[in-house]
Amino acid sequence: MAGGRGQFSSRFGFVMAASGSAVGLGNIWGFPTQAASNGGAAFLLVYLLLAFLLAYPALMAELILGRHAHSNSVTALRKVSGSRLAAGIGAATGIAGFTVAGLILSFYAIVAGWMVAFCLSAVAELSGNQALASWLTSFGLWRNVFFLLLFLALTIAIVSAGVHDGIERWSRRLMPALLVTLIVLVAYVLTLEGAMTGLEVYLMPDFSRALSAQLILNALGSAFFSLSLGVGTMLIYGSYLSDEENLPLLGGIVTLVDVSIAVLAGFMVLPAMYVALHNGVEIFTASGVLISEDTLIFTVLPELFATIGLPGIVVSFTFFFLMSIAALTSSISMLEVPVAYVTEEYNAERHAAAWVIGGIIATIGCAILLNFDTLFGFIVTVTTRYSQPLLGFMFCVYAGWVWRRNSLLQELRKGYPQVEEGLFWKIWPWYVRVVCPLIILGIFAQSLFA
Ligand code: PHE
Repeated sequence: MAGGRGQFSSRFGFVMAASGSAVGLGNIWGFPTQAASNGGAAFLLVYLLLAFLLAYPALMAELILGRHAHSNSVTALRKVSGSRLAAGIGAATGIAGFTVAGLILSFYAIVAGWMVAFCLSAVAELSGNQALASWLTSFGLWRNVFFLLLFLALTIAIVSAGVHDGIERWSRRLMPALLVTLIVLVAYVLTLEGAMTGLEVYLMPDFSRALSAQLILNALGSAFFSLSLGVGTMLIYGSYLSDEENLPLLGGIVTLVDVSIAVLAGFMVLPAMYVALHNGVEIFTASGVLISEDTLIFTVLPELFATIGLPGIVVSFTFFFLMSIAALTSSISMLEVPVAYVTEEYNAERHAAAWVIGGIIATIGCAILLNFDTLFGFIVTVTTRYSQPLLGFMFCVYAGWVWRRNSLLQELRKGYPQVEEGLFWKIWPWYVRVVCPLIILGIFAQSLFA
């Protein structure tokens, strides 16, 4: 390990941090409605297959590259390159990765800020301050700016405390809290009238819808976003792992946790929507599909909570608290990517680096808020639809083609001496060389022409 670098103190700490990065807004507001409108259990099956057969290998590429170099993505990609050209392209990929990570954070923190505002609104309502409660839930520039800055300040504070004392410590606290909160919400929602219809819609398999080419590609795109791939997040977390750890196993656990939480969130969101329908709230768009994403979270669910009376306020608080935690453990992993680069390449002090980079991201976030209608959707599309798959492609190419196979094998052997005898070594190298790059290019081509 490079001297003075941070390291996760235990396997549990790493799993909490990496699955904290993976489990985010995408799992809760994207996956459940996508599944419900696209074939229910059949979509779930397709998603599971894609997550394990394609996203997991790409995740492994990042983890292995990171653990091998014990450094940021720019240095890691340079290190495995045999020629100056490959080293240059690798460095450019790493730089593009942390730039995209910063841009994702600039819009993610805006949405996360809304979650915190909605959470506090429930507190304001409980204490009888209606005016404050409605200010917190109305779309206004000052509210948006204030909560963007507050959320980023939290993110920066955790990252500036370091890998062990910041990222690992907080992930270890927040992730179990997230799981418990989610289970409590699922259990509560399932007792309400109308919930069972939602469960049926979520789980009734319809293979004719889940097997369309367009949908499979979409599901793969969400799996990539959900596992935080393509921007160097998983690479940098892998770089803080000790050489004794069995990487294929750890990557498998992280994928499993991410997918399980997405599936579990479906047991809350879909029943909740049908409870809302039962209580007279509109849950379909004009064209007859289930309302999803931001309208689901900020309109349908709050309307549902309002129909339950006092317990509704408590449920509302709990739900937005859950969303805020999910967002925070993801956002710290986004900020860590540029911070790690600047501290390692320029010997900058972590605390200063985190605040300066966080400040730049806050400025970009404010610019987005000032031009919300034009910039928000644009940045989301450029970063998640185009950049993430393309950069993910580059990481696979570096792990599969550029890096010498022998050296890669040695890296894997470190925490898993019998790796050559296992299934992983028989399948993964092919996946990362051929299958992953081809599929990613497929998604990319599709998103260009869609
Ligand atoms: N995986 C996170 C989510 O599902 C998003 C994310 C993307 C996090 C890229 C880090 C890097 O919300």
